[in-house]
Amino acid sequence: MIAAELTTAKNEVFQKGFLDIELDPTLDLFAEIERLKKEKNAVVLAHYYQEPDIQDVADYIGDSLGLAQQADKTTADMIVFAGVHFMAETAKILNPSKKVVIPDLKAGCSLSDSCPPPLFKKFKDQHPDHVVISYINCSAGIKALSDVIVTSSNAKIIVESFPKDQPIIFAPDKNLGAYINKVTGRNMLLWNGACMVHEIFSLEKITKLKIRHPNAKLISHPECEDPILRVSDYIGSTTGLLKYTQSDSSQEYIVATETGILHQMMKANPQKTFIPAPPTNSCACNDCPHMKRNTLEKIYLCMEYETPDIIMDEELRLAAKKPIDRMLEISKKAGL
Ligand code: 13P
Ligand code: SF4
Repeated sequence: MIAAELTTAKNEVFQKGFLDIELDPTLDLFAEIERLKKEKNAVVLAHYYQEPDIQDVADYIGDSLGLAQQADKTTADMIVFAGVHFMAETAKILNPSKKVVIPDLKAGCSLSDSCPPPLFKKFKDQHPDHVVISYINCSAGIKALSDVIVTSSNAKIIVESFPKDQPIIFAPDKNLGAYINKVTGRNMLLWNGACMVHEIFSLEKITKLKIRHPNAKLISHPECEDPILRVSDYIGSTTGLLKYTQSDSSQEYIVATETGILHQMMKANPQKTFIPAPPTNSCACNDCPHMKRNTLEKIYLCMEYETPDIIMDEELRLAAKKPIDRMLEISKKAGL
């Protein structure tokens, strides 16, 4: 077993062990997390899809671009990443000497899983004249095979930074890729991946909701399928959606993305109404099961025991860092 595998195995044992630890129910987790932040010079970065309590203890809440930018500039010794694995991995790629802990090592991503590096490598090799643009929701193995990384807030700008006649492979999200093809007039070759959360919104149920709420605007994440995007009033990253609800004058919104974002939308606009867009299944809302593996208890435990942490092979890290650096550079120049 190589060192990285050994540490991963150790992490998994700790992860299982955590589940058995019975925390004193009177423990004030908010106060304990604040204490650990100070004691360990730790920063808590959280994605908008985290549960409200986690967002409330975070030092920074943001979309994937904002989180990568924060990870890039933090001076903390320990980064506590309340998100999913590819996000914490990105933070580690940018901060090899810092400890990056994740509350639950099993918090994965269906979109990232839909693009295994060996299969993608074969696909890439069949198109040697194409540049590879990958959505940040992918593993380090895919990042290492990419020329540049994008997020939902900079994908358009980055794709447009390539000449119009440049053949491009876009991976792994076919929905975001199709949307970017549409708004840029490109014809990128799309990997057939998708997010399990954004794929299941029901156009029929949304249409019925719109009839009952005629003044509500439909705002959607570009990971949604085309029929939903076509009828949307605004399309953007989680930060884009949040900002739109603050600058727009409407009072009601149907929100087609993971429900975690509603916490910040309601905080920023207490007088407005936010309705989660209904999925095709019988659920009333749409939670990401990976994002929602994280809990306040697990945040406390990973800070206290400093595990599970992200361990990376150095060669892979360096190869994956190049396209992320390129993304950060282009985004900075574009004022994002
Ligand atoms: P953004 O927050 O960057 O829009 O990404 C959404 C998402 O699905 C993250 O997993
Ligand atoms: Fe992955 Fe979708 Fe969950 Fe985001 S919401 S982490 S893309 S499965």
